[in-house]
Amino acid sequence: MTKVTVLGAAGGIGQPLSLLLKMSPYVSTLALYDLRLAPGVARDLSHINTNSTCKGYGKDELQAALEGAHVVVIPAGVPRKPGMTRDDLLKVNAGIVAGLVTACARFAPNARILIISNPVNSTVPVACETLKQLGAFQPGKVMGVTTLDVVRAQTFLSDALGADSYSRESMKKHVTVVGGHSGSTIVPLIANSTLRAKLVSRRVYDAYIHRVQFGGDEVVEAKQGAGSATLSMALAGFQFTDQVLRSIHLEKPDPAPLPAFVYLPGIEGGRELQSKLNTQAEYFATPIELSRGDVARVDAKWLDSLTDAEKKSLAVCLGELDTNIQKGRRFVKSKL
Ligand code: NAD
Ligand code: LMR
Repeated sequence: MTKVTVLGAAGGIGQPLSLLLKMSPYVSTLALYDLRLAPGVARDLSHINTNSTCKGYGKDELQAALEGAHVVVIPAGVPRKPGMTRDDLLKVNAGIVAGLVTACARFAPNARILIISNPVNSTVPVACETLKQLGAFQPGKVMGVTTLDVVRAQTFLSDALGADSYSRESMKKHVTVVGGHSGSTIVPLIANSTLRAKLVSRRVYDAYIHRVQFGGDEVVEAKQGAGSATLSMALAGFQFTDQVLRSIHLEKPDPAPLPAFVYLPGIEGGRELQSKLNTQAEYFATPIELSRGDVARVDAKWLDSLTDAEKKSLAVCLGELDTNIQKGRRFVKSKL
């Protein structure tokens, strides 16, 4: 019996993500919470003929939505409009995330908390620092969701190479993304040297990296003020949640695990990665090893085979990332 709670379930991401979770064989209870419309969305989904039950919870029902949850997914928060950076969202979304993780600490203290709300580079530190203050922080249970970068990196790689010969689905084993979830902090890594060489020889390598790093802007601009990526994010959020649910259900892990943005000092292999990266940044997105749904180890194997171009991207990422992290930290400190 696995209960998944979605906080922000009636939003652009929340609704399709909840639909995908309703289809999951690993979910027995789906709880949808939002300040608006969650009971309606849940009633709609509850007519679907899969075995899980689905219930909606309104503004004053956060406790009931969270009690007994094994996994809490948080897409609650405002999205960008054209001309805005993810950083511009911090003021509003930091308060939302801090409030929601405080409730998680009280009502679902052992749940894995998956954070989608932007800016992830800062909202994850907000969540972790808030939980630390409450004496409720379990580093292996808090994960920033950066899967959309991986999905884009795979799709755009196939596009750049020619989708007829390099199918999108076959790109899964060839590329991952580390660092953070914003502009230059997003560092795509192409493991397959032949594919990488093809991009370089066709002179599209830099354009490919740029497209992955700024793919979010493409969608924000195309939606003309109506928000940011929702459907591709719902799929990405589902893929990541599915990875966690499979681990809870003791399924064999995928040989190419998805990365997550995590608190390195609290996780096995994290301090080693930090010292190899020679960085103060305590939060970083890297492929994770899960055990019963918690992050058990971080994988740093990718560090051994970086190209010069990837090393350069990583250096730029690290220069920016810690600034984002400190912004999240400062938000929590200012509330003391
Ligand atoms: P949206 O405005 O469509 O939906 C957000 C929902 O959150 C709304 O239904 C709103 O009522 C709800 N909400 C606000 N405050 C809440 C609270 N305190 N408790 C519960 N619910 C609350 O926005 P969206 O397009 O779904 O995007 C949501 C967030 O996800 C944004 O911050 C966006 O930037 C982020 N995002 C992240 C990624 C990623 O890769 N991690 C990708 C896309 C979007
Ligand atoms: C994305 O990468 O699409 C999201 O982070 C949303 C955004 O603001 O770009």
